[in-house]
Amino acid sequence: MKVLIAGGSGFIGRHLAGRLLQEGHTVAILSRRPELHRTALPAAVEWIEWQVRAGGDWLNRLPEFDAVINLAGENIGAGWWTAAKKRRILESRLQATQALIDGMQQTGARPAVYVNASAIGYYGSRGDDVIDETSPGGNDFLAQVCREWETAAEKADAWAQRRCIVRIGMVLGRDGGALPQMVMPFKLFVGGKIGSGRQWMSWIHIHDLARAFAFILQTAGARGVVNATAPNPVTNAEWTQTLARVLHRPALFPVPAAVLKLGLGEKSVLALQSQRVLPKALLSLGFRFQFPTLEEALADLLA
Ligand SMILES: NC(=O)c1ccc[n+]([C@@H]2O[C@H](COP(=O)([O-])OP(=O)(O)OC[C@H]3O[C@@H](n4cnc5c(N)ncnc54)[C@H](OP(=O)(O)O)[C@@H]3O)[C@@H](O)[C@H]2O)c1
Repeated sequence: MKVLIAGGSGFIGRHLAGRLLQEGHTVAILSRRPELHRTALPAAVEWIEWQVRAGGDWLNRLPEFDAVINLAGENIGAGWWTAAKKRRILESRLQATQALIDGMQQTGARPAVYVNASAIGYYGSRGDDVIDETSPGGNDFLAQVCREWETAAEKADAWAQRRCIVRIGMVLGRDGGALPQMVMPFKLFVGGKIGSGRQWMSWIHIHDLARAFAFILQTAGARGVVNATAPNPVTNAEWTQTLARVLHRPALFPVPAAVLKLGLGEKSVLALQSQRVLPKALLSLGFRFQFPTLEEALADLLA
């Protein structure tokens, strides 16, 4: 397939592009600044510049692609959640999605499949509830962002032959996402659980996430919403014990929720919310996880 990845220069996109090349696909990345990222990926990846609107040369290229994947958006983990940052988190996602959909309309592009990222933040904080793709959405900031983002992406139904929204869990990798920061206190012997430790964490190894995207491209039955999380979510207490064991470090220094809220403000929700999400759609479509348990994933990434 000829695959176009908007926002493909980021953590997930780089791994996905590598995976797709390995599987024999042709990959192009839409980026605001290709010159900054070009060397991060093999020369076989084509870089196309866009300004995140439905104008410019990139539009002429859009009809060439069999698959369009949209990962673009302001990074959620970096920086303080000021009002301006929160606005950028929402608007960057809506703009990128709208630009792609307007682009399809304007150019007559009819990709076989359109895949839009979303996040399990869609579900809000849900205690011990077991969540699948049919569960209702939450009401907090991230839930609202995901809801608006998904509503914008659904409009691709008018142009793409198949459309899939991937609600991604916490992605574990060596070179991006939250894991490197979470490992640091343990390496310094000051790791511990966060808050009560009872909150559920739904994670996925970056290798399995890239495989899941590639699987969705090739699987005709993959449409609508698909959760991308490993089949074994853990509580934060279990996460902490597993991380400590894999790193051969103690976990003696719990971080009270109040301290985290003081340090991170509203962004502390990323560590304190409870989401026990299952990848029901992926499993029923026959996807097999290479790293189904946290112990296996962390051992692979941190050994
Ligand atoms: N990593 C996770 O754990 C995780 C979990 C759930 C959901 N997700 C979602 O998956 C998507 C990809 O995640 P990621 O970790 O790969 O993110 P990332 O590393 O921050 O990469 C996102 C890419 O989006 C582009 N971008 C940034 N700001 C933009 C803006 N204002 N307008 C348009 N494009 C912009 C950038 O590409 P250029 O600079 O090249 O244009 C960037 O490389 C994100 O939308 C994220 O919300 C990630």
